[in-house]
Amino acid sequence: MTDTVLPPWTAVDGFFLETLLRPDPLLDDILRRSDAAGLPSISVTPAQGKFLHLLASSASHILEIGTLGGYSTVWLARALQPGGRMITIEFEPRHAAVARETLRLAGLLESVDLRVGAALDILPGIASEHGPVFDFSFVDADKPGAPAYFDWAVRLSRPGGLIVVDNVVRNGALADPSDEDPRVVAMRRLVAQVAGDTRVSATGIQTVGSKGYDGFVMARVLPR
Ligand SMILES: C[S@@+](CC[C@H](N)C(=O)[O-])C[C@H]1O[C@@H](n2cnc3c(N)ncnc32)[C@H](O)[C@@H]1O
Repeated sequence: MTDTVLPPWTAVDGFFLETLLRPDPLLDDILRRSDAAGLPSISVTPAQGKFLHLLASSASHILEIGTLGGYSTVWLARALQPGGRMITIEFEPRHAAVARETLRLAGLLESVDLRVGAALDILPGIASEHGPVFDFSFVDADKPGAPAYFDWAVRLSRPGGLIVVDNVVRNGALADPSDEDPRVVAMRRLVAQVAGDTRVSATGIQTVGSKGYDGFVMARVLPR
């Protein structure tokens, strides 16, 4: 029998999990219930969840596009200031059912509004109801939709609001013009769009960890 050798970044994620993050039965349970319900294992890692939590710290309004079983949702909702509100959007009713149970178990049903449907159908209603109030937005749904979701996130952000779009680097394919995977093409289009968007100041950060090599785009919405 051969031992599986983990890449060093997987081991380091484990080290951070045991040291900086510490066990959290509720968060572990979300991943267990998501697996048991047959949801894909595509949530952020614990270290990334904590990173989002720190970025969103003391937000009064958080927007998430792409809920899955609610793992990143809980990390983000725990960053809300008292009385703060979060809206999270999920297309798949089966995923949303797991997420709703997650919110119930986490005691977050009051502060998190889970909306089920296609983000592009739901975002205009959020704009009419709330206007540009969001301090932090996390874009993590279908990748071809990311450019349109980013535009909505900018429109819905308050000046100074922060937007993170996940899974942009895609194992380095982002910078390979011969890669025509629609998700990669969409992320290249996203970066070009963000680069030309005078409403924001942005950067891209590459990441490695237990879910491999990827990265995100982060943008600050400038004063209007
Ligand atoms: C990468 S997963 C989200 C992971 C989650 N943010 C986390 O880290 O725990 C992407 C989710 O977006 C959902 N999704 C796909 N297309 C969507 C759409 N058009 N509108 C809203 N959600 C969508 C998928 O069903 C899936 O649950």
